[in-house]
Amino acid sequence: MSKDDFDISNYLENFCFEQNMNIFEDSSSQTKVDYVSVNGKDIPRYINEYWTSRQRQASSIHEISYRACFKPQLPRFFIDLLTHEGDRVYDPFSGRGTTAIEAGMMGRNVVANDINPLSKIMSLPRFFIPEPADVEERLYEIPMYKDIKAEMDLSMFYHKDTESEIVSLRNYLQERKESSKEDDIDRWIRMVATNRLTGHSAGFFSVYTLPPNQAVSPERQIKINERLGQKPEYRDTRRIIMKKTRNLLRNLTQKQKHNLRRAGQAAVLLCNDARHTPEIESGSVRLTVTSPPFLDVVQYSQDNWLRCWFNFIDPDEISRRITMAGTVEEWSNVMREVFLELFRVTEKGGWVAFEVGEVRGGKIRLDEHVVPLGLNAGFECKGILINLQEFTKTSNIWGINNNIHGTNTNRIVLFKKPGQVGNGS
Ligand SMILES: C[S@@+](CC[C@H](N)C(=O)[O-])C[C@H]1O[C@@H](n2cnc3c(N)ncnc32)[C@H](O)[C@@H]1O
Repeated sequence: MSKDDFDISNYLENFCFEQNMNIFEDSSSQTKVDYVSVNGKDIPRYINEYWTSRQRQASSIHEISYRACFKPQLPRFFIDLLTHEGDRVYDPFSGRGTTAIEAGMMGRNVVANDINPLSKIMSLPRFFIPEPADVEERLYEIPMYKDIKAEMDLSMFYHKDTESEIVSLRNYLQERKESSKEDDIDRWIRMVATNRLTGHSAGFFSVYTLPPNQAVSPERQIKINERLGQKPEYRDTRRIIMKKTRNLLRNLTQKQKHNLRRAGQAAVLLCNDARHTPEIESGSVRLTVTSPPFLDVVQYSQDNWLRCWFNFIDPDEISRRITMAGTVEEWSNVMREVFLELFRVTEKGGWVAFEVGEVRGGKIRLDEHVVPLGLNAGFECKGILINLQEFTKTSNIWGINNNIHGTNTNRIVLFKKPGQVGNGS
């Protein structure tokens, strides 16, 4: 059956993970289906292990840390199921670019948007994969000055020689950008360096601190150093950048590199509020796979203050623009407008897979709040998918009711724009 007219409910109901993996040819489906009533409508809810990390190893190219990112297996599942090569795939809350990169590798056209400018810094370079030797050559051409300091005190994070290298890199990259000389290799170095600024191992420029996407304040770092009795040691920034570069590229195939480059050349990467994306033509997107900011749980700008500093970005400006809704009502008001925009950009017969995680320990089921927002915009709701991870499943999915919670579930509300594919918007 073609991807354009197949029966999604039948597919999800009869989905068998092992069969898909050709492990047990004759396994029967394990999908649990129940119905949740939302505004008087019965919405089917499908619970199964639709994808896991076992299913297919994710590409190493995704290994860029970002708060609240999803696993690449999630967008892959929907891209594979609902699009053809050449179709346009969109993520309005792109983050590190998981959907965009996965879609690009799979030969789809890419549109991505995120209000945080760091998103494009993380995503764009990975469409244009460099040769490690070229990165190395460039790194050794960049003048690394001794004894230069940042304009603020960063001594609690970095050894003075490491700091001097970071500031040299930062100044070089800024100058290349301002003089419009920045190329793919510079952008690659910027991305990797941004990612190596702070972290919890010797693979980062800093002394031990929280994982890389959660830069702590200088005051808090001083306390961490006191508690652990640690002092920043010298870190060789060029060596660390090269190691991460090789790691990111370690299992990327020639075909994937080729697909990424092609997708990158045509990609539209925006830095807008997701409610307002006039650059995207009406009726041009076949599939959106996205995960919005969830209430107020993640402080994207605070967590990223050092990344912002390195890239000459004002974190307060991001804070002002980013959606930080404190209540479901505020959150829904923003997402209502996002759905109207998604309806506009989606082609007839196109899809939206909208992922919401567990909020406040599972007390708030955002998935059920999302259903009316999509319906109101004009979409049909095809159901809610709950993806269970393998070990959660052993708790017997047949016994689970509305209380499935924990960080291992993804909840995806799936919408379809009515109409036949190819009939315009
Ligand atoms: C849950 S994260 C998305 C993570 C992404 N799926 C990934 O794998 O990296 C939500 C993103 O929404 C962005 N964001 C918040 N408010 C926004 C808005 N009004 N418009 C566009 N992007 C927004 C944040 O900057 C953040 O990157």
